[in-house]
Amino acid sequence: MSLSRVTVTAVRNLHAVTLSPSPRINILYGDNGSGKTSVLEAIHLLGLARSFRSVRLQPVIAHEQPSCTVFGQVELAAGGHSNLGVFRDRQGEFQIRIDGQNVRSAAELAESLPLQLINPDSFRLLEGAPKVRRQFLDWGVFHVEPRFLSAWQRLQKALRQRNSWLRHGTLDKASHAAWDRELCHAGDEIDAYRRDYIQALKPVFERILSELLELDGLTLSYYRGWDKERPLSEVLASTWQRDQQIGHTQAGPQRADLRLRLEGHNAAEILSRGQQKLVVCALRIAQGHLVNLAKRGQCIYLVDDLPSELDEQHRRALCRLLEDLNCQVFITCVDHELLKDGWRTDTPVAVFHVEHGRITQTTTIGSET
Ligand SMILES: Nc1ncnc2c1ncn2[C@@H]1O[C@H](COP(=O)(O)OP(=O)(O)O)[C@@H](O)[C@H]1O
Ligand SMILES: [Mg+2]
Repeated sequence: MSLSRVTVTAVRNLHAVTLSPSPRINILYGDNGSGKTSVLEAIHLLGLARSFRSVRLQPVIAHEQPSCTVFGQVELAAGGHSNLGVFRDRQGEFQIRIDGQNVRSAAELAESLPLQLINPDSFRLLEGAPKVRRQFLDWGVFHVEPRFLSAWQRLQKALRQRNSWLRHGTLDKASHAAWDRELCHAGDEIDAYRRDYIQALKPVFERILSELLELDGLTLSYYRGWDKERPLSEVLASTWQRDQQIGHTQAGPQRADLRLRLEGHNAAEILSRGQQKLVVCALRIAQGHLVNLAKRGQCIYLVDDLPSELDEQHRRALCRLLEDLNCQVFITCVDHELLKDGWRTDTPVAVFHVEHGRITQTTTIGSET
């Protein structure tokens, strides 16, 4: 799937703009502050109904405008297309429309438009809290395993019940046991999906990483969130008192993590920024391959400031891997000369110049138009 048209109104400094992207590679170049990242942000808004730069949506709306909107026409892998729209105003009023119907949950958007973002914050995937890696993992599972969402929702509900009971002790014993059973049931199911996912991801990740970097000995492993030798029910029973003291459940899939280690150390502590960027790219590109394999659609990649921190050789290797994904990719850079060459002749590459919030398409390489 790919975006064949994007219309943006009042997102940051962008004027009302319409973009007809290439189904494959799109390069947006322009000076600092011209609006390149804002274009990626608009697409992100369309796919997730939220911004990647700020938790609050308010700053995304252009100064002195009451609201922002983004529309997109998505070409579906199965043929035909779908129309998505996201509207947001300063009061927090919020509308998502898919093919003319109002939709309440952003999960439906995420399913219609699987997005992968690679930007200067991406190193957090290695350095940040386990929550960031869990989100990465669950994004992948969500897009390949249709049963994951409902298991995850059941887990959240059971956890809320248990934590409330730990704090207030308002549940009777039988209800408590029933919620614990539900927690273990959903927990085992989620653990199985995540384990299968990592097993599939690992070899793809390793192959891609080896094309980007020579990093012998980097290992990716999965921690399920509780002792791997004992069932969750037993762990929950044994930590009950401590859980009650701290007021929440310590063990379980809500504590899962991914571990990236190099020669016995946390990889984030050893790798340079450029290497970290490439490891994150390899992880995210590997996820795109798994989405392709699952045949439930295709990811769209948003790569903000691709050339930064990378030398020519690594830049080329990364472009080649993005190209090999057969997905739609939006790349921003200041100097597009760096990314002009090296694409295969039959890959349609569209180049856009962003200037003071306006976008003009300058060239299309490798296609008829
Ligand atoms: N809410 C807003 N309204 C209007 N302009 C904004 C808003 N938020 C940020 N800007 C401006 O938008 C411009 C473009 O930002 P950005 O897309 O990050 O630029 P680039 O990625 O091209 O360097 C910046 O000059 C910034 O000051
Ligand atoms: Mg930028």
